[in-house]
Amino acid sequence: MKVLGILGTHNPAGVTGQMLQAVLKGAAISADTEWVDLNDYALTPDHDGLTDPDLDALETKMLAADVWVLAAPTYLGGLAGVMKNFLDCFRNRIARYNAVGEAVPDRFKNKHYVTITDCYAGGLENYVTGVTDAAFKTMDKFLTMGGLIKSREIVVTGTWGMQTLSAKKQAEGERVGAAAAHKVERDDNTVKRYIQLFFMIAVMALITMGIEAGVGRLFPLTNFWAYYGVFVVIFYVLLASILHFFTVVKHRRR
Ligand SMILES: Cc1cc2nc3c(=O)[nH]c(=O)nc-3n(C[C@H](O)[C@H](O)[C@H](O)COP(=O)(O)O)c2cc1C
Repeated sequence: MKVLGILGTHNPAGVTGQMLQAVLKGAAISADTEWVDLNDYALTPDHDGLTDPDLDALETKMLAADVWVLAAPTYLGGLAGVMKNFLDCFRNRIARYNAVGEAVPDRFKNKHYVTITDCYAGGLENYVTGVTDAAFKTMDKFLTMGGLIKSREIVVTGTWGMQTLSAKKQAEGERVGAAAAHKVERDDNTVKRYIQLFFMIAVMALITMGIEAGVGRLFPLTNFWAYYGVFVVIFYVLLASILHFFTVVKHRRR
């Protein structure tokens, strides 16, 4: 079992690098770990049949690892350029591309990954505005093109003036690293998803019927179609809110 940390930041000794070290420390309990600082590589895209030797070196490490941990700060509302340049240069290698240019997961399929980002914005501001979402989304897009499976995200907020990671965040990083180092099996969450769906529907139906009972006290809903109509509207609002939460606010923000 091997865990590879990939750091893309202007400041390798900063909070982002410290969080990556924490994750690798946790992983090192049961796995081999390696650390890559992208600043040590002069990355350019492969072109005209010539491959970039630094991309080759990184690819060898990435193939050998079972888990990748990508760490990069949020710069100007997006993913830090050092990491973004690596993802752009590696794009043609992360997957195979079919006749119409669609990515087909290939050599990296079913490896696992953890992503890390951070921001000056505080926990509440990030929770409300999602400052770090764009950085996570960019890393997710690249990694899912390769068919990698997400283990966890870690976010550090309020980094303005922060020299050292807090003990709580250090512990979180080590915990995530220790857990990620055990993910060797291929994930199949189908049964888990059906169970989650069952409980979501059960809870939503309960809330809908509770609200309907309240509405029924104000406006008697003895007519079948009136009862049905109110049920559909309340259920729809709840379902739309849950779907919005999972599709828009799905990234870790605190
Ligand atoms: C060039 C630059 C741009 C940044 N842009 C943002 C930003 O748009 N929003 C934000 O909340 N933090 C921003 N930050 C803070 C970083 O996301 C990061 O949290 C901070 O640099 C601490 O991480 P480090 O110690 O690893 O460098 C920026 C920092 C730098 C250096």
